Amino acid sequence: MNELLSLRSMKATIDRLFLTGDVSNEELKALMDLRYNERLKEAAVARRKEHYGNAIYVRGLIEFSNHCRNNCFYCGIRAAQKGLRRYQLGQSDILNCCNEGYKLGLRTFVLQSGEDNEYSDETLCNIIYSIKSSHPDCAVTLSIGEKPRASYQAYFNAGAERYLLRHETASPGHYALLHPASMSLENRKRCLWDLKDIGYQVGSGFMVGSPFQTLDNLVSDLRFLQELQPDMIGIGPFIPARGTPFAHMPAGSLTRTLNLISMLRLMFQYSLIPSTTSLGSISPQGRLLGLEAGANVLMPNLSPASVRTLYSLYDHKASLGAESASGLDILKKEVSGIGYEVVVDRGDVKPQKEAN
Ligand code: 5AD
Repeated sequence: MNELLSLRSMKATIDRLFLTGDVSNEELKALMDLRYNERLKEAAVARRKEHYGNAIYVRGLIEFSNHCRNNCFYCGIRAAQKGLRRYQLGQSDILNCCNEGYKLGLRTFVLQSGEDNEYSDETLCNIIYSIKSSHPDCAVTLSIGEKPRASYQAYFNAGAERYLLRHETASPGHYALLHPASMSLENRKRCLWDLKDIGYQVGSGFMVGSPFQTLDNLVSDLRFLQELQPDMIGIGPFIPARGTPFAHMPAGSLTRTLNLISMLRLMFQYSLIPSTTSLGSISPQGRLLGLEAGANVLMPNLSPASVRTLYSLYDHKASLGAESASGLDILKKEVSGIGYEVVVDRGDVKPQKEAN
């Protein structure tokens, strides 16, 4: 088991992570385990401030379909989930969401769904193209799962410029404990490399405290991200979802998630790191704590109120108040209350000044 380093060596480890962006596997594990993480947070916040000042970028999240062909054991919208009303938004619904978001000051739209093959590539391209035509100053981000390379290329050609696909876990054995045999880490990685190669700004990430996860698994996640060098990294605590095989598993730890956000900020200085909905769902202060640990993106929900509770990845998923785009004013106040500022900006990743 991982020994707690003494306070002095822990400080030295944090300083070295700050200066060099890397430390040993054993040190990474000790940092994940920190209970008193003020110094780690301070280092991460200093780094974020250096590159992004006080700016917090906001993305309007449109969860346009909760149909999914997959059966990930952790997910509340898996194909086998019973008693869930399924919905699909059409092109005009999605465009309306974007128009509303635009008025609110959002300049990035994230289109997310389960893996729903009823939306053909042609339909998706039309949707992307029409959003870009109406709002050429906005970025379109897709988060619609594993697809053939040709589909990714078609969406890119239609105007999508960013893609979110969490790798979920970079350890093959752990991957097999979270997913049915029909899914593979190999294909997931293939998708990520294809997306990068095509020219997308790519986001990946993982859940913290997913069932059976070890500290070594988390080290592998960080090492995989170092290989991939994504522009965006989304992490959040696992939260059990009723009706799934993991309904009775414990939720991931808030503190460990915050430690990992700070570590990501130090390892991937320029990355766009959201303070995720799951963080906001596990604790009322979670979203703000995420910013105070080094995150710099928020993704308020822009889906129509009538379907918002149906995108139930896990139980008690926050979707009201500051979590919704219509509550953007509340969000802005909360954010300025802790010394940051929500900006109207596409919020592209900043180019690295120099290789370090
Ligand atoms: N708890 C937390 N996060 C979850 N996700 C899916 N199910 C859960 C859950 N039960 C995350 C996955 C997925 C993202 C859209 O939501 O990491 O990539």
